[in-house]
Amino acid sequence: MSTRSDRRPLVSGNWKMHHDHIEAIRTVEALGLRMREGRVEDVDVSVHPPFTDLRSVQTVLADRSLALLLGAQSCHWEDQGAFTGEVSARMLARLDVKLVIVGHSERRLHCGESDEVVARKLGAVLRHAMTPILCVGETADERAAGLTEQRLVEQVERAFGGVAPAALATCVVAYEPIWAIGVGAAATPEDAAAASEVVRSVVSKLAGKSAAEALRVLYGGSVDPENTASLVGADGVDGVLVGGASLDPEKFYRIVEGARALR
Ligand code: PGA
Repeated sequence: MSTRSDRRPLVSGNWKMHHDHIEAIRTVEALGLRMREGRVEDVDVSVHPPFTDLRSVQTVLADRSLALLLGAQSCHWEDQGAFTGEVSARMLARLDVKLVIVGHSERRLHCGESDEVVARKLGAVLRHAMTPILCVGETADERAAGLTEQRLVEQVERAFGGVAPAALATCVVAYEPIWAIGVGAAATPEDAAAASEVVRSVVSKLAGKSAAEALRVLYGGSVDPENTASLVGADGVDGVLVGGASLDPEKFYRIVEGARALR
C-alpha cells in the first residue's frame, strides 16, 4: 500500500486567462532556469497555460530539456467533431500535455459545467493517458450552512463514479474552497487536511484503500510562497494548485521550494 512518502509532491500553476504566447515563453524560460539551478528533482511541477500558448511552451520545454510538465486548463470529451471553439483531450495529448485540470470552479460557474460534464472530461483525459486534476470545493454559503463535506462527497463521487480503480489511483484531486480563490487569504492547513480525508474516504469506498492512498490531493486557493509550507505540511496534502502566484516565475519557484522542503 502507498503511504504519503510514496506520493510525489505536485505543484501546479494554473495561469487561467493570463500570458499570451510570448509572455508564456519568457515565463517558462525563467522558471526552468531557476529549477535547473535549484535542482528540484523530487517534486513534479506543471504549468497550465491558455490553449494558444501550449505549442510554444511545449517547444521550449523540449528544446531546453526543462523539468516542467505541460498542463492544460480544460478539454472537450469527444476526440473530434462539430464543437465550435473546443479543444479535445486527444489534441492535448498530441501536444505532450501530461495533466489537465477538470471541473475548476470558474468553469463550473461561468461555463455552466455540471458534475456530469466534468465526469465526461475526466474520462477523456484518462482515455488519452493524461492525468486529470479534478477540482472540488464548496462555496462560502455551503460552508456557512455546514455543507462542505456533503458537497465534496457529491463532487468526488460524480466525477469518479465510472472510473476503474487502477486509473483512479493515478488521478489528482485539488481541494479548492471557492471562498479562498483569488482573495489573498487561504484556508487553514486544518481545512485542507479535513478535505483531503473526505476525498480519500470517498475514493476508498469507490475503488479501495490502496487507490485512496495512492491518489494525490492538492490544496488550491490563495497559495503564496509564505503559506505553502504549512499547507503542504497538512496531513494528506501532497501539493498545491496555484493561480495568481504562478504567473510570476520567482514567486512560483519559491512555492516549489516550499513544497519540496518538507520531503
Ligand atoms: P489563486 O487561484 O491561487 O489565485 O487563488 C487558485 C485557482 O483558482 O486554481
